[in-house]
Amino acid sequence: MTADLPPKPPSRPEKVSLWRYLRLFRQDILSAQPAKLYRAWMAEFRTPFFRSYLANDPDLVKRVLKDRPDDFPKSDRIGAGLRPLLGNSVFLTNGEVWKRQRRIIDPAFEGGRLRDTYGAMYAAGEAAVARLAQRQGTLDIEPETSHVAADVIFRTLFSIPIEDETATQVFEKFRDHQRTQPILNLAAFIPGPRWMPRFFKKATTDTAADIRRLITDLTERRMFEIDGGTAPDDLATKIMTTKDPETGRAFSTEEMVDQVAIFFLAGHETSASALAWSLYLVARYPEWQDRLAEEAAGLSADFSSVSALKLSRDVFREALRLYPPVPMMVRETTCPETMRGRRAPKGSQIVLSPWHLHRHTRLWDNPDGFDPTRWGTENGKTCQRDAYIPFSAGPRVCTGAGFAMVEGPVLLSMLLRRFRFDVTEDIPVPVAHLTVRAKDGIRLTVSER
Ligand code: HEM
Repeated sequence: MTADLPPKPPSRPEKVSLWRYLRLFRQDILSAQPAKLYRAWMAEFRTPFFRSYLANDPDLVKRVLKDRPDDFPKSDRIGAGLRPLLGNSVFLTNGEVWKRQRRIIDPAFEGGRLRDTYGAMYAAGEAAVARLAQRQGTLDIEPETSHVAADVIFRTLFSIPIEDETATQVFEKFRDHQRTQPILNLAAFIPGPRWMPRFFKKATTDTAADIRRLITDLTERRMFEIDGGTAPDDLATKIMTTKDPETGRAFSTEEMVDQVAIFFLAGHETSASALAWSLYLVARYPEWQDRLAEEAAGLSADFSSVSALKLSRDVFREALRLYPPVPMMVRETTCPETMRGRRAPKGSQIVLSPWHLHRHTRLWDNPDGFDPTRWGTENGKTCQRDAYIPFSAGPRVCTGAGFAMVEGPVLLSMLLRRFRFDVTEDIPVPVAHLTVRAKDGIRLTVSER
């Protein structure tokens, strides 16, 4: 057990006006919440327009995500801000459209395919090590982890490194886009009345259009290569050549563009955030860093070496617990629901909060402490099953969960076997923008091991 706790954002006072709450919320959804949410099983939030319920009870979470997911779809309003970029992507759709999309996408991410994508992941790791060797000294580690996570996506999806001209442009445009339109926007959690029109800033629609144009080029080029029999065997080819077993139809180019946009968005910000917090944690608890560096000596470009990264996986899993990159998710009730004796009307928002569930004081031993050994304890195993949802759960679980659980520990190991990471005086403050990031970056001192 570690007495020295890693950073946790301050909670707001118990009682604040709705207006103050909204203001705090706009700044950061984590520190806008009262401390009691870390011990509550459920919390109700009423506004003039809608009701919202934060569900922290593992049975409720199971009901929403696993038992009856069709009755708790994503709300259209949540997707509103993302639609210019993501179109009809699997992240936003519901019902039959969503099911069909998953039938086509899921096979590309199955266990067996991970072996095929591993070479590209490892190559991205080597490139990141080479980049960092040039930088060293004290630096903000988040841009570095963003860079390598984007590189992993481009190499595994389209067999191109981030240095490719189109890839670089997409990466940069995404950065601009996120500044104007975060994925976790305020509207997702505090929707206005249904009749309220949504306006997009011109900058948002412009960058979205630019990104889609670039992705369309890549996708069209790939369609051409598939037709000519010259396409590389990567994730894009796999997805674009998979036919829905029920309808026999594959994605059109337009549909594929929607999916590529979400793979890039969902797959790179999240992994970047998790890797950055993992590096911070091992810098803060250096005894773990040394153990991981030792373990990493056995890692190679051969996929079978990944299974030996046990400590690295435990540390990465603990980073995902303490700093879940997607801190909250929202669903909507399609019929009245009784939850812990309360009646939620149709159209209520159900907020599932990995952030609170992962630190729930009535579920976890040492909830705020960094303890990668917990996964071997009875409490850790029970909580992993019932109260650990960094990738969500049930049929709508993150498509890239298996991918990310290889990528994270592998990149962490590759970086730690070459470099030492030390904390500086700046203690990062977690805030939720697009993903859980540090308010002013994560500054670490990097040196050759
Ligand atoms: C540490 C890394 C990652 C974390 C923590 C993470 C987390 C999540 C979570 C929590 C969701 C569910 C969101 C919701 O239902 O509202 C999700 C969905 C999704 N993720 Fe990930 N993700 C990660 C990496 C990836 C990667 C690498 C990819 C793809 C290459 C990916 C692709 C997706 C897609 C396509 C969805 C939408 C699935 C659907 O709605 O059916 N993610 N992710």
